[in-house]
Amino acid sequence: MNNALLPGAPIGVFDSGVGGLSVLRALRAQLPQEDFVYLSDAAHAPYGERSEDYVGARALRLADFLLERHGVKALVLACNTATAAAVHALRARWPTLPIIGIEPALKPAASASQTGLVGVMATRSTLQSSKFKSLLDSLQGQARFVLQPCDGLAAAIEEGDAKATRGLCARYTNEMGGFGSLSGQIDQLVLGCTHYPLVGDLLQGLVGPATALVDPGAPVSLQTRRVLAQAGLLRTGQTAGTTLLLSTGSGDALHRNAQRWLGLHQSVGSACTDPPP
Ligand code: DGL
Repeated sequence: MNNALLPGAPIGVFDSGVGGLSVLRALRAQLPQEDFVYLSDAAHAPYGERSEDYVGARALRLADFLLERHGVKALVLACNTATAAAVHALRARWPTLPIIGIEPALKPAASASQTGLVGVMATRSTLQSSKFKSLLDSLQGQARFVLQPCDGLAAAIEEGDAKATRGLCARYTNEMGGFGSLSGQIDQLVLGCTHYPLVGDLLQGLVGPATALVDPGAPVSLQTRRVLAQAGLLRTGQTAGTTLLLSTGSGDALHRNAQRWLGLHQSVGSACTDPPP
């Protein structure tokens, strides 16, 4: 594959579904001259309650597809669950390819917290991963973290099921305890799944204005810019980049959400990746 990575080539971005659009939105704002190929693995979503092996195998196949069919010059894993399961394997397989992963932003949240209590909403698979456990261990003593696996929430957002989404957000924030700026309250809420920023307004309403929502989309886009610059792979020129939308399953959710969140009106192409092993 990528013997020669080219600055003019597109950046591949993938997620289990539409969640990665929250990252793509930040990437397009940060890197307006770049072309993007966004791949939703809708046929195999959600990832959050699946095994690490399954998600890891999917991530490898999606990366293969983006490299072989679209000749991407970099990969952004716009999915916490896939990053936890596969970023090491992907980097081992393509050591010269810039690969940017995403993980729940515990560090910035711990630094910003005044109450010392940080909430973390993420998929069960992310919270159970060894990558997440080492991140948590590295922050021992810096804050107390309230971990909330949010089964079903990414799926409800993906399906556009407003009633289920509202019910699950209310249930999970309620289970986490009190939110606010007083002692014993959570004042930083980490959105550890890229689907959750898409319902940021709903979550903010539930936890109140004194708790900050921590969404790593913007830092990830900055990191992507840095990595591309270091590799000499930033695209130059004034022409606005393009975005191609692809899905392994029905493109309906991607089409609807890309229109809503990014103002993209184009149709979604179909991506044929093999079924999982
Ligand atoms: N958006 C994904 C994440 O950041 C995965 C959600 C899912 O498929 O369960 O973890």
